[in-house]
Amino acid sequence: MEFRRTREPAQRDRELMLMLGGAGFFQALVAAHELGLFRYLAAHPGMSQAALAEGLGLPPASLRVLLLACCAMKLVERTQDGEYRNLEWVSAAFAGERPSFTTVVEGFDRLLYQPFSRLTESLRRGTNLGLDCYPGPGNTLYERLAAHPPLEAIFHAWMSNLSSSGLPERLTGALHDRTHVLDVGGGDGTNAVLLAKAHPGLKVTILDLPSICERARARAAAEGLDGRISTHPCDIRTDPFPTGADAILFSRIFNIYSEEQNRGFVRRSADSLPPGGLLLVFPSMVCDDDETGPLSAAFLSLYFLCLATGEGRVYPPSSYEEWFREAGFSSLECTVDAGDDAVFIGRK
Ligand SMILES: C[S@@+](CC[C@H](N)C(=O)[O-])C[C@H]1O[C@@H](n2cnc3c(N)ncnc32)[C@H](O)[C@@H]1O
Repeated sequence: MEFRRTREPAQRDRELMLMLGGAGFFQALVAAHELGLFRYLAAHPGMSQAALAEGLGLPPASLRVLLLACCAMKLVERTQDGEYRNLEWVSAAFAGERPSFTTVVEGFDRLLYQPFSRLTESLRRGTNLGLDCYPGPGNTLYERLAAHPPLEAIFHAWMSNLSSSGLPERLTGALHDRTHVLDVGGGDGTNAVLLAKAHPGLKVTILDLPSICERARARAAAEGLDGRISTHPCDIRTDPFPTGADAILFSRIFNIYSEEQNRGFVRRSADSLPPGGLLLVFPSMVCDDDETGPLSAAFLSLYFLCLATGEGRVYPPSSYEEWFREAGFSSLECTVDAGDDAVFIGRK
């Protein structure tokens, strides 16, 4: 048979397709993770389609579709001989003893995607209607999760994974001469453990919701640090901070809440710190000064509005400067890294 084929040069608008197909592509990423494709390829790089289908126990036609998606998304590559392998970062992210990305994907999949279907209405009304997906008491995701223990565990595994790669050196180092730090919204204690290990003379008090404080106490005890890490169950928005600390840390808290609430956090910290006391704020992310990017700040801002609290967003460094100045701090140092993670350290 003679087969003549002509093909015009492709005009592919990758960005447009990623926007339109984002939900489907994300589910392909989840499926590849859940079906074990990335783990299998990490252990057996250079597999043929047939061997992969057999190894994963998938119908060959399904595997073909999944591989097309993963190759198009540049997660997996196919050699000229028709063998498949993960891109290098994918193996580190999804396979091995401490995969760095699985908790993030599980958090997005189980917690964020369904609520995002309420985004238009949330924007219209200026509130977090996505929260309707998780019935229970309270008007923030953090309070609602207490009624959904498996989801709470997924959320804190995601947060803990973010922190387990460490806190910024600038932040940890600033606590070298401190005796007692309040870790406001400290979560399951991952940061407290890192700080207590870095500074043997430091006590840490975690302020968080009651169910999270329980997790943090278990974590501290498991590390043998329960003598130096304590918890203080409270609502950080309204309850007074414990006295006697010479440093206060807010890690991944300020983007959650409104400008007014953040202004209040800084003012209340200034009131409760002694002269020379340090306020450390690790948002972690800041947006560009003109609020036009980056993409990660845009996504997080949508998440805070539509689901987490209905009031937060990612702020530019200039907002922090204003809040610290208003509260009367004598100095403020701001360090932003290449990934837009920022640390603000104010001295009273
Ligand atoms: C995004 S997580 C950050 C956890 C940790 N600081 C970190 O850096 O990974 C926010 C934490 O703040 C807590 N939180 C949020 N709102 C709170 C409130 N109103 N009162 C007490 N804790 C709150 C949540 O329970 C959660 O542990």
